[in-house]
Amino acid sequence: GSTKVPMSLFDKDRYVNYQRIEDNLQVVRQRLNRPLTLSEKIVYGHLDNPHEADIRPGASYLKLRPDRVACQDATAQMALLQFMSAGLPTVAVPTTVHCDHLIEAQVGGPKDLARAKDINKEVYDFLATASAKYGIGFWKPGSGIIHQIILENYAFPGGLMIGTDSHTPNAGGLGMVAVGVGGADAVDVMADIPWELKCPKRIGVHLTGKISGWTTPKDVILKVAGILTVKGGTGAIIEYFGEGVTSLSCTGMATICNMGAEIGATTSVFPYNERMGSYLDATKRSDIRKYAEAFQANLRPDENAEYDQVIEINLSELEPHINGPYTPDLATPLSKFAQAVKENNWPEKLSVGLIGSCTNSSYEDMSRAASIADEAAAHGLKAKSGFTVTPGSEQIRATIQRDGQMESLEKIGGVVLANACGPCIGQWDRQDVPKGTKNSIITSYNRNFTGRNDANTATHAFVASPDLVTAMVFGGSLTFNPVTDSLKGADGKEFKFSDPSGKELPPRGYDAGENTYQAPPSDRASVSVAVDPKSDRLQLLEPFKAWNGEDPQGLPVLIKAVGKCTTDHISAGGPWLKYRGHLENISQNCLIGAINAANNEANKIQNVFTGAWGGVPEIAAQYRDQHKTGWVVIGDENYGEGSSREHAALEPRFLGGTAVITRSFARIHETNLKKQGMLPLNFVNPADYEKVKPDDRVDLVGIKELAEGSKVTLRLHHKDGSSEDIPLSHTFNAGQLEWFKAGSALNFMAKSKN
Ligand code: F3S
Repeated sequence: GSTKVPMSLFDKDRYVNYQRIEDNLQVVRQRLNRPLTLSEKIVYGHLDNPHEADIRPGASYLKLRPDRVACQDATAQMALLQFMSAGLPTVAVPTTVHCDHLIEAQVGGPKDLARAKDINKEVYDFLATASAKYGIGFWKPGSGIIHQIILENYAFPGGLMIGTDSHTPNAGGLGMVAVGVGGADAVDVMADIPWELKCPKRIGVHLTGKISGWTTPKDVILKVAGILTVKGGTGAIIEYFGEGVTSLSCTGMATICNMGAEIGATTSVFPYNERMGSYLDATKRSDIRKYAEAFQANLRPDENAEYDQVIEINLSELEPHINGPYTPDLATPLSKFAQAVKENNWPEKLSVGLIGSCTNSSYEDMSRAASIADEAAAHGLKAKSGFTVTPGSEQIRATIQRDGQMESLEKIGGVVLANACGPCIGQWDRQDVPKGTKNSIITSYNRNFTGRNDANTATHAFVASPDLVTAMVFGGSLTFNPVTDSLKGADGKEFKFSDPSGKELPPRGYDAGENTYQAPPSDRASVSVAVDPKSDRLQLLEPFKAWNGEDPQGLPVLIKAVGKCTTDHISAGGPWLKYRGHLENISQNCLIGAINAANNEANKIQNVFTGAWGGVPEIAAQYRDQHKTGWVVIGDENYGEGSSREHAALEPRFLGGTAVITRSFARIHETNLKKQGMLPLNFVNPADYEKVKPDDRVDLVGIKELAEGSKVTLRLHHKDGSSEDIPLSHTFNAGQLEWFKAGSALNFMAKSKN
């Protein structure tokens, strides 16, 4: 085809490639001879080799050619350090870096931003210079949250994107298949190596009816999370379809896709519709809208497309939900919530409500929240609880400032934070409640694991729509139900909130605000990348050692972890974020949140050689340095769920780990372990987890014969002298086995380029 539509306003010489989708699908249709779902069209439309690809949902691996890559500042550090060590001159596909994760919320937007620029100067300088050097678009601190900026500028229907952040699926609201990956995957794509993805299964969500009243798009995903649970989406793309879709705004669809990450889904996606069209118009991309409309047949599922599972949701009957605490899949309908608070003894008083984040900070979200605030203000009320507002981007901030929503939110006591992740990622210098004190907060964010927001494990974090969060700060209590309960105004008269209302898109258009973008310079040869060898935040990478060719023997169990072990437990966020670019320093947080089966305590394990007790990173380093041995971690179900951070794999590898053996893995973490040269293994019989004792020594038999589909035996040597064999499985394919043998994917990459 000759149509040339630029992929974005910032990539004028890179074009939307619908022709490739069309060409690929002609081949794939002939081979599969069945109707295709939407995600199949987009994914197979980006196959590296449609003639030879092995296409079996849930089983085979696909080699894909994504259209673009996005990295946030926390994960970009390691990704760029890795890319640099591969020795290539420029990134192969359009790539952007976004400074959003490192800004701590303390007093409010401008001051917090200035402080972050100062504290993180060396990291921002590194990212800015490395971006300039390798041809990457750089979004400076203050520009906003990666997923919001992607939606505003880069996402397009039918595109395929990877991003080094688990909420990359947000772009599914604009019909893009956008997948959260580890930095190592991003490095592959930046280096022009096809990206590997397990062929996704397809979960259909059939939406009927029409959304209205207090129910918002957020409630769709809160409901779906309750149905599917935190692992129900694993290995699948969630595809929404049906007549209900058109009652959702484009940004609302993005909220739904964003939070699909909470159920472990590879990504989520919506079919092209006119709500996406108006969003493309509003964000100055009408040429993409026209092109997408001409191509529409490939941007929706075929009739009779088959899904592995279908969920039915009638939007007309859907109630607002509140999910939590501690897990995003504990879904309670609003009408039952007050009772649940009492029954479970959750702290009733609402300390703080937080709206915004990458999940829910659209113009629509902010105007609906402002409508609630205005109504309360008209009755003379101010927020009873703390109340913070995080705009998703500089564009949203500038637009709601111009249009008055910000004033409405501030007038009732709201504090507007910087356009950044802030409290969502634990960047919150919280002063209102001392650590360890039981308290409740409610957010419009996506993730509510223990300690995520404020590093206080006694904080009960709930997730709801921005509408509910805003209304509830006036009730000041978790038991307040704005749909049924009244509040007393300043005049002593009772009133009930009206249904929230808001504009989907700004009637006067978006205000771009300050210019926060740095384009790569045309002369890149003269740019030098800033890394100080004395830095405690950035460290150039040393390659890991290659496998010695032997079956590992006599390895200690570093820790047998019980229960939930998310990437937050394996590599904590919060204050540790500042060491993201320094592997040695950040490894001091390795597995310190995991609960040891031996004593039910965190970060207290026994050195099997000396009998002494100590912290996990400390004893891991003793095994590596003094006892010259590898070690294994034993994990429970869905090990490594949560964020995409590859540090959770780099750290155990750096500290000398050999294998992680679990009942099951979260996808991204399992792949990350493989990339770093570790062995992620599974119990064939999940009950065998119980047979491993924390003081066992273990052999891994069958590593020498490791091949696609091969079995491994875990030989346990118990302390009483007895031993037993346990069957293990793995998901390595032939290509990934090369990573293991070379010591890491990057070692293999460097080797094959030379
Ligand atoms: Fe940031 Fe929270 Fe989103 S950390 S990218 S705002 S999930």
